[in-house]
Amino acid sequence: MIKIGIDYYPEHWDKSMWQEDIRQMAALGIHTVRIAEFAWGRMEPEEGRFDFGWLDEAVDMIARAGMKVILGTPTNSGPVWLYTDHPDTLQWDRTGKPTDFGIRGHRCLVSPTFRRYAGRIVEELAKRYAGRPEVFAWQLDNEMESNHCTCPACTRAFRDYLQKKYGTLERLNRAWGSDVWSGQISHWDQIKPLLSPDCSPNWFNPAYMLDYERFCAASTADYVRFQCGIIRRYDPEAVITTNSCFGANLPDFHQEFAPLNVAAYDNYPPLVLPKDPEALYSNAFALDFIRSFKQRNFWILEQLGGPMGCWSPITPAMEPGMLEGYALQAVAHGADLLSFFRWRTSISGAEMFCHGILDHSNQPNRRLRELAHLCRRLEAIPDLDQTTLNSQVAMLYSAEQEFALKNSTQSKGFAYWTQMRLLHDACMNLGVNVDILPEGHSLDGYKVVLIPTHFITNPEVVRQAEAFAAAGGTVVLTNRSGVKDQNGNCILGQSLPGAFRTLCGCSVQEYDAIGEANQRLRTIHGETHSITSWCDILELEGAKAWATYEGRFYQGSPAITRNRYGKGYAYYLGTVGEKGLYRTLLTEVFREQGVDMLEMLPQGVEVTARSGSGGTYRFYFNNTTARKIFRINGESIALAPFEMKIKQGEGQWL
Ligand code: GLA
Ligand code: ZN
Repeated sequence: MIKIGIDYYPEHWDKSMWQEDIRQMAALGIHTVRIAEFAWGRMEPEEGRFDFGWLDEAVDMIARAGMKVILGTPTNSGPVWLYTDHPDTLQWDRTGKPTDFGIRGHRCLVSPTFRRYAGRIVEELAKRYAGRPEVFAWQLDNEMESNHCTCPACTRAFRDYLQKKYGTLERLNRAWGSDVWSGQISHWDQIKPLLSPDCSPNWFNPAYMLDYERFCAASTADYVRFQCGIIRRYDPEAVITTNSCFGANLPDFHQEFAPLNVAAYDNYPPLVLPKDPEALYSNAFALDFIRSFKQRNFWILEQLGGPMGCWSPITPAMEPGMLEGYALQAVAHGADLLSFFRWRTSISGAEMFCHGILDHSNQPNRRLRELAHLCRRLEAIPDLDQTTLNSQVAMLYSAEQEFALKNSTQSKGFAYWTQMRLLHDACMNLGVNVDILPEGHSLDGYKVVLIPTHFITNPEVVRQAEAFAAAGGTVVLTNRSGVKDQNGNCILGQSLPGAFRTLCGCSVQEYDAIGEANQRLRTIHGETHSITSWCDILELEGAKAWATYEGRFYQGSPAITRNRYGKGYAYYLGTVGEKGLYRTLLTEVFREQGVDMLEMLPQGVEVTARSGSGGTYRFYFNNTTARKIFRINGESIALAPFEMKIKQGEGQWL
């Protein structure tokens, strides 16, 4: 059965309330209670003095009520004594100064002192709780980002990382192209994290920055392995995960999750939907992205349970149906466990207006009733967790591309994520499941592979893409591909899309980075679409034009091409379009490849399917604030705002 959980902070409430809270959760049908991820101060009130009595009581109470705990390691937020007595545990910011304590997440993941204290508290927890039947799983730390810390320990570790990678400064300088602006490094000690509050990262050497981003991501992954190792010493079978989020500094999720058992995410879809019909707001992409971390079903460790506050002014209330609909949207993309943030809204601390299920009034409310309804609905589909998403379409993602593009803006408004989201959005709107895959993953079994902006050329991806098309598949590649080598330098003497030129059968003669300006293109079918951001002026070298520009000095030049390659095809998109362009293009690509799709879905309606030995469940989600009515195979389907309908096989609506 899909598990529903609650995020609970017993340390925030008087003990006299625990029993009743836990009774109510159990009565709702809650399976797991996620606790303790910020409670280091209660576990170790003074250095070396541990107090787990309160936690034992909470764990026992939860277990007696028939639920299990997801136990957090509390290392995101150390006790005040840790930072005052050991300031070298603090994270340093981009100004090169220690972050002040008082908030959270201000610890340095690399600092040997922090590792010593974090290691000890994790070990104390593991000693006490690892292997116990009450513990369903472990959550490491909280919402870890890539470790962008400028402290002396990180600076040293960055130098060591580079020394290991390059061996000599000569090799490093060559890889970084240090002759520009006299950037030659003549001593390892000159190297430091290049972060500055005063200037844009675009002003630094992108090759240097790429290695820095790689180092930061590797530090986070190393910290995950460090905590995992401690818990596994006490329970090799422990189920360990961490709750990911998409902050400013993304880690390399595939690397980070490699030692973990299951991927997990904190799912906060928008409470206010944008009015602009071109906005990409759906959380469907994030959910498929999380599934990609381990290429299997995942968990939500924080699911939107109420209006947000603290990190923003208080948001509008949740619309009727939103709590349940958004939760089921996660299930529709492969979530097998959803833990709601949080049981009751805190009455103290920074997040006192970041609402949980219950309000400060502590009275049953509309959100609690929706949660209860969700529990009943999922109980009625007990084999749903035995199903998975099967996709005929794959999309490649790599942290390398993210890192390289983040510090090297190509055009105003141009972003790697937007490229992925535009392609993904069209798939959702055609009812097509998408698997997001790390570069190098096998492409067997897929009919179409989408490759958004492959900026840093990975020769293995080029080889795979060629083999895939040659064998009959379709590759869809977007602009700014094949631009750079693995060091992050541009490649001399090639026309773009570089290593993909043969596959695509076209080359870029010139490009026009139009930023936020708009113009139009016309497809071979005569449809026109608005485009923005970037225009590659393409020359055909075997490919045929699929769309041409309508304006500027290159009017009539190809903007999108289609090349027959072996038994398959390669499409190259030299521009960035409005949503409708991707829908039109992918409809044709999918038709050509015989991908199963639903062409009649209105904008904002998303359809995915999960199947298993017991059959297929199809999820129809209305991710808009308007009522939607459409027909599939003669059957009329109506969806209220945020409503999710689930259909079993060809028959019953659930
Ligand atoms: C994040 C954190 C939580 C809480 C929520 C609410 O996801 O992990 O501790 O702060 O946000 O905004
Ligand atoms: Zn540091």
